[in-house]
Amino acid sequence: MTSNIVKFIYKNKIVEIKNPDTNETILNYVRTKLKKTGTKEGCAEGGCGACTVVIGELEKNNIKYKAINSCISFLPNLESKQLILVEDLIDKGELHPVQKAMVNFHGSQCGFCTPGFVMSLFAMYKNYSSFKEEIIRDSIQGNLCRCTGYRPIVAAAKSLNKNNKRDSFSRDKKITLNLLKKINKRSIAIVHNNKKYFAPKSINELSKILRTEPNSKLISGGTDLSLIVTKERKDLNSLVYLNSIDELNYIKENNKYIEVGASTPLIKFESIIKKYFPDFSQILKRYGSVQIRNVCTIAGNIATASPIGDTLPLLLALDAKIIVKGKNKIQVLPLDGFFINYRKTKLRKGQFIHSVRIPFLKKNIFKAYKISKRIDDDISSVCASFNIEVNKNKIKKIRIAFGGMSNIPKRAFNCEKVFVNSYLSDKTINKAKKILEKDFKPITDARATQKYRMEVAKNLLEKCFLEVKQRKNIRINV
Ligand SMILES: Cc1cc2nc3c(=O)[nH]c(=O)nc-3n(C[C@H](O)[C@H](O)[C@H](O)COP(=O)(O)OP(=O)(O)OC[C@H]3O[C@@H](n4cnc5c(N)ncnc54)[C@H](O)[C@@H]3O)c2cc1C
Ligand code: FES
Ligand code: FES
Repeated sequence: MTSNIVKFIYKNKIVEIKNPDTNETILNYVRTKLKKTGTKEGCAEGGCGACTVVIGELEKNNIKYKAINSCISFLPNLESKQLILVEDLIDKGELHPVQKAMVNFHGSQCGFCTPGFVMSLFAMYKNYSSFKEEIIRDSIQGNLCRCTGYRPIVAAAKSLNKNNKRDSFSRDKKITLNLLKKINKRSIAIVHNNKKYFAPKSINELSKILRTEPNSKLISGGTDLSLIVTKERKDLNSLVYLNSIDELNYIKENNKYIEVGASTPLIKFESIIKKYFPDFSQILKRYGSVQIRNVCTIAGNIATASPIGDTLPLLLALDAKIIVKGKNKIQVLPLDGFFINYRKTKLRKGQFIHSVRIPFLKKNIFKAYKISKRIDDDISSVCASFNIEVNKNKIKKIRIAFGGMSNIPKRAFNCEKVFVNSYLSDKTINKAKKILEKDFKPITDARATQKYRMEVAKNLLEKCFLEVKQRKNIRINV
């Protein structure tokens, strides 16, 4: 069934909004329509966490709680979800355990960031049974505080380990679950003035919409696209939301490859890829923040073709394939060659990325490095990735790719040639470092100078091969 009414759960009641403004952010709705002003706006681009709210989603007869940036998520995305705001944590006049902990440990000064921190910690409180330092730090990765400092906030979070984990949300869980099940069946098609929004539930429906609305923009997590509205102040006139399509939310593993469906949140992929390529998951741990990774997708990252898209050099080095669906056919394309120019891919109107396939290379060594100004929630200055097959101290095969070094994420073809069939000697490494200048002519921008980028790229190359030599116990002095 298709409906023009967005339904979501708020305070254990079903809220219905007919044909809402499809470009209105959840933040704007909460502050101006619900008149709940606890949720703040800082940056309006997903970077500060002041606007963090929590979304409850039905997952296998359970509720999955996710902290999200309400400043870059559009109101219709709330369809079939539960919305939880900082005001809703108080139960019968009593502060929530997370709020009490923040008070007791002096986790707030001016208070502007505090609702955001509370909501991030609330999501952590609901999703984990104990709170180790790493979990706490990950959970507040996307929240900035410019006055209190993080130590008291981390201490407040640690103190929650002593709590019995019960709250009004666990008490009311059955009611919420039943309500979520009641509203979870519909596809959405909205027309608001001249703006349209579609949220199909199946690939079939998606294909039909793309035939009738060929000028629509696809939107998944919206962590890139929505900034056109919030920062550039332009309208997105027709949107097709992909994250309601369960068929595209999957991770398939066999002994040859791992395949990730287009609407799979990055956070889900992060925990699975760790088994196969630990360096990949290390990069993802520093990818945006939990709020970003809760909604954004690997397909969205690929489709942006951003020269600093963090998964792209890794996928290039791993020789990933993308499965593209069009009007009548499915194509399996190598990612190599998919990026044709700055933020341009081979994708044509009416096509969408269905999934990404990453082959396993059991004999190979895979390494990846991200260099950015800050550890957390920052975009790469340079990102490097290496996929190496070593046989009897010689390099047999190699794929090297860099982000931040060109107008697209790109392989270092000349550099690769230096290594093939060579011993891993200092001479080879030095020659490869020099040759990198033939592969890339980076630019100077706000993040890094051209010179810095080239120097860092060379150093990462050296670092990688020193680590490989150490791991393989290779000693060569030629
Ligand atoms: C605060 C913040 C921090 C960030 N940090 C990082 C970072 O550390 N590293 C990094 O690489 N990026 C980062 N990003 C950028 C962004 O989060 C990523 O590019 C993300 O992977 C985009 O995925 P999405 O699902 O949100 O895409 P969306 O914003 O929904 O879409 C992005 C583009 O992809 C297209 N698209 C989406 N899905 C498909 C599909 N299935 N088929 C075809 N086209 C599709 C859309 O039409 C749009 O053009 C950050 C963004 C923010 C706001
Ligand atoms: S307002 Fe800064 S992340 Fe939303
Ligand atoms: S308490 Fe002032 S910004 Fe955090």
